[in-house]
Amino acid sequence: MASSEQPRIQWLGRWGFMLAATGSAVGLGNIWKFPYITGEFGGGAFVLVYLACILAVGVPVMMTEIAFGRRGLGSPVDAIRRVVRESGRSSAWSLIGWMAMLCGFMILSFYVVVAGWSFAYLWKMLSGGLAGSSVGDMAAVFEANNANPWNLGFWSTLVTLLTMLIVGKGVQEGIEKSVSWMMPGLVLMLALLIAFGVFSGGFAQAFRFLFSFDAGSLSSEGMLAALGHAFFTLSLASGAILTYGSYLPKGTSIARTTLSVAIADTVVALMAGLAIFPVIFANGMDPAEGPGLIFMSLPLAFQAMPFGTLFGTLFFLMLSMAALTSAISMVEATVSWLCDNHGMSRKAAAWGTGIVLWLISTLAMLSFNLGAEWTLADKNVFGWLDYLTSRLMMPLGGLGMVVLAGFVLNSHTFRDELGLSPLPYALWLTMVRYVSPLGILVIFVDALGLYRV
Ligand code: PHE
Ligand code: NA
Repeated sequence: MASSEQPRIQWLGRWGFMLAATGSAVGLGNIWKFPYITGEFGGGAFVLVYLACILAVGVPVMMTEIAFGRRGLGSPVDAIRRVVRESGRSSAWSLIGWMAMLCGFMILSFYVVVAGWSFAYLWKMLSGGLAGSSVGDMAAVFEANNANPWNLGFWSTLVTLLTMLIVGKGVQEGIEKSVSWMMPGLVLMLALLIAFGVFSGGFAQAFRFLFSFDAGSLSSEGMLAALGHAFFTLSLASGAILTYGSYLPKGTSIARTTLSVAIADTVVALMAGLAIFPVIFANGMDPAEGPGLIFMSLPLAFQAMPFGTLFGTLFFLMLSMAALTSAISMVEATVSWLCDNHGMSRKAAAWGTGIVLWLISTLAMLSFNLGAEWTLADKNVFGWLDYLTSRLMMPLGGLGMVVLAGFVLNSHTFRDELGLSPLPYALWLTMVRYVSPLGILVIFVDALGLYRV
């Protein structure tokens, strides 16, 4: 195995891991998915449960995953197997790693379609194709972009190619540098959109929608969606953060890094909500519009503001880049697993993975046109990939990970790896032993009825 012969490659520079992890976390989950599911599940109560899940489940699981990666020095499968062996436990636990790897891959299969939307809108902005459209036109533009499989397939194929090109080049080049200017740029664009909302109306209503909650308005399904989204948005239980953690130098504080990534991710999501919902309300659109929500609303705002074409182009450029820095992290687990275990070169592993990915993502892409009716229990391929990963695999994988860390492994393993002083360590242990697993179980049991397909 590679890591026993030569030291594993590590992130460059002090900020390398943090930039890469932030790049993985901040993406379409924050700007596309968070607003649209918040709209579907009715706002405030959903947001509150989501925030609670980030704190009570997301943060402890993220610390655990990074520690697994850094201690086990490998893809989720290899890292978990090594760490478990160190404690003399059964290597069957590495099944959690297999599930995580599969999960990252499945997510990427539909993520490239959404990233393709972002690229398509970048092109529309740049070429002026959206100028002068009314609220009504917006839905038609989105649908027209989906209706032709050659068009939609072009964009998702482009994203797949770009992702594999970057992944094939290796972890150290490019990622860290692009995140350091793209992230502030994205935040700036969101701030601009929020300011626009404040001046042009709808802001107060949006604020109330997001932050005033009336208890009891949230369904079991909404709770499960909030939990699943906490995993999704922080890139957890999908191999991404664990594998990135395996490149983390020993001296870096896992707790501090986790907190900054979680805070950055949450701030971007809330800003996205505050940027998008004013446009929705000011134009009398439906918050529960679904996956097209941001693409149907944001161009209206850009159209109405000075230098809108420029700002709109910059926004979709940065959204597309944020999507790419997330996409590359989803296959990092698979690619590093192929390299470490099958002696493949990075390039070969990336392109091999890319071909399988392209086939599955094409099925997901067809869900918006030819395959819209290829459904099982009312969900098409795109819907199933999203549902299985967010609502089932990630919460289960996270549960497995905290149970492993909290109860199964020798207690010194994580004490050493996290390097925390007694009080924060006790807090982490309480979270992974009781708070996170109970939180996941309660939401799961409550939602059990949903699994009767
Ligand atoms: N966290 C990313 C986002 O919010 C999505 C992601 C999920 C990335 C799983 C890696 C792994 O867009
Ligand atoms: Na995110």
